[in-house]
Amino acid sequence: MQKTINERIEELRAQFQQGIDAAPNLEALEKLRVKFLGKKGEVTTLMRGMGKLPADERPLFGKLLNEFKGFAEKMLDNQKKQLKEKDASQRWEKERLDITLPGKPFHLGRKHPLTVITEEIEEIFSYMGFQIAEGPEVESDYYNFEALNMSKEHPARDMQDSFYINPEVLLRTHTSPMQVRTMEAMAPGLPVRIICPGKVFRRDDDVTHSPMFHQVEGLVVDRGVSLADLKGILMLFTKEMFGEGRELRFRPSFFPFTEPSAEVDISCIICGGSGCRTCGDTGWLEILGSGMVHPRVLEVSGYDSEEVTGYAFGIGIERIAMLKYGIDDIRLFYYNDLRMLQQY
Ligand code: DAH
Repeated sequence: MQKTINERIEELRAQFQQGIDAAPNLEALEKLRVKFLGKKGEVTTLMRGMGKLPADERPLFGKLLNEFKGFAEKMLDNQKKQLKEKDASQRWEKERLDITLPGKPFHLGRKHPLTVITEEIEEIFSYMGFQIAEGPEVESDYYNFEALNMSKEHPARDMQDSFYINPEVLLRTHTSPMQVRTMEAMAPGLPVRIICPGKVFRRDDDVTHSPMFHQVEGLVVDRGVSLADLKGILMLFTKEMFGEGRELRFRPSFFPFTEPSAEVDISCIICGGSGCRTCGDTGWLEILGSGMVHPRVLEVSGYDSEEVTGYAFGIGIERIAMLKYGIDDIRLFYYNDLRMLQQY
């Protein structure tokens, strides 16, 4: 049975429609175009075969075929657009950033609490006209002991268990050798007004002692320097460091390189002086050793002890940091545990 013209075109349309619906991408779409509208495609073939039709059917067939061609071109165009859009949105979906997600925290490094305290001390004394000097951590027996009025037999050497490298060289047990080194370098220049922060080493290891710790040495030499000047400077320092309302107590003590010597306590910053565990119920906390520079130390360093006088002090940096931050184990400073370091 002969198919009517309408039927044949309908068939073509249905085939085409199926192809379009199934085309998954632009490539498949192009294949479909070639198959139906290409030079050797369905439409061309049908056009060519039109001669075989009865003459009265040809105009209708031509018209319907042309309509189909227009329809197919439009459909292909539309579908192409849609596929392109889908493609783009899929790519977007894949690459998209969710700007509402919480950010990844970026941890900045920061200064070690001991560095913070050291810099604070340096700033306070710089402001009061002191210069900052640094000296060797590996020191000679002469500067560490001898020049500081501690001869070989001096019992005061027992106070400080030292790390010797050879009989003449050791890790410095305090920053006081910088008193002599500075004066030697400056003599007979006046005034001498320095602080020397740095590491010191002793054979000691418990909750309040570490084999390595830090001190700041202070030294002032000039004409007419007195104990009152020392007291004034230390009062200013504690006020700057710990705030108003701290009391200072000068307790007579002994150091071979100062005469007279004093240890300085401040009223306990934890209990305010009424007595607690931190201050051992005394209400006072020791923060430094000090005194008037011994005439013999001035002399061996090149100064005339009849002409000039001086005062000196040695502050324990860890001690200050422990008091200021309420830390009760000195070793916490050296474990480098981030849970501790991030609090300061
Ligand atoms: N060098 C002493 C020590 O390490 C501390 C000290 C005491 C330093 C008295 C001084 C001073 O300058 O005058 O224990």
